[in-house]
Amino acid sequence: MKAPISTRLLACCDYIAPGDRVADVGCDHGYLGIHLLLTGLASRVIAADIRPGPLECAVKNGKKYGVSERMIFCLSDGVQSVPRDFDTLVCAGMGADVMVSILEKAPWLRSTGYRLVLQCQSKTPTLRKYLSETGWTIRRENVLRDGRFLYTVMEAVWAPSPALTSGQCYISPALMASGSPVLPEYIRWVRDHLALSVRNQPDKEGSPEAAALEELEHIKEERL
Ligand SMILES: C[S@@+](CC[C@H](N)C(=O)[O-])C[C@H]1O[C@@H](n2cnc3c(N)ncnc32)[C@H](O)[C@@H]1O
Repeated sequence: MKAPISTRLLACCDYIAPGDRVADVGCDHGYLGIHLLLTGLASRVIAADIRPGPLECAVKNGKKYGVSERMIFCLSDGVQSVPRDFDTLVCAGMGADVMVSILEKAPWLRSTGYRLVLQCQSKTPTLRKYLSETGWTIRRENVLRDGRFLYTVMEAVWAPSPALTSGQCYISPALMASGSPVLPEYIRWVRDHLALSVRNQPDKEGSPEAAALEELEHIKEERL
């Protein structure tokens, strides 16, 4: 039996290493973890959510797909009540503010023993900036289409690297190197939004947004 998993969540699974012990925080229906167990990619999954309703749904689905004995279910704000013996933290379908707050409350994650797989739904440049400033390196990043929308998924590791520039907070070096077929469309979309935002608010001149736009305007046309 296959779990009904979206293209967006499948893209998160691409960054899971064989045998990983995965903590899926904000699991909701639990399908990401269930898919990882059904395909044999993960050895164990902790499915956590801050709300009882989604967690109950994950418990029900875990039983339905016959993988619940390899799942641990945690009612938890972020990783606060999650056992620490996992390899990869997945946070998908949340905005940057929630993700930053989850990471900020768990300084113990800042270790080479953990990897992050983050699929951010809003304010993604804020998340990239935070990661870069706290010591996380975005090692891989991809952009993909799911239905009408483009989504990015990133893998971050605890490793020193130069801080991202304003423009790189919008299009990271890892994303630039992804070779994604929809990257040119994504860059154009980011540039258009930045241009609109800078144009509509004159006080944004000299702001990080204006600096980012200037950087992104230098991306060579042949790459778009
Ligand atoms: C939009 S759903 C995304 C579900 C799934 N990860 C996906 O991408 O399809 C966001 C989920 O995150 C949960 N959530 C929000 N804040 C959270 C937090 N601080 N800790 C754990 N779960 C949280 C919500 O209850 C909700 O079930």
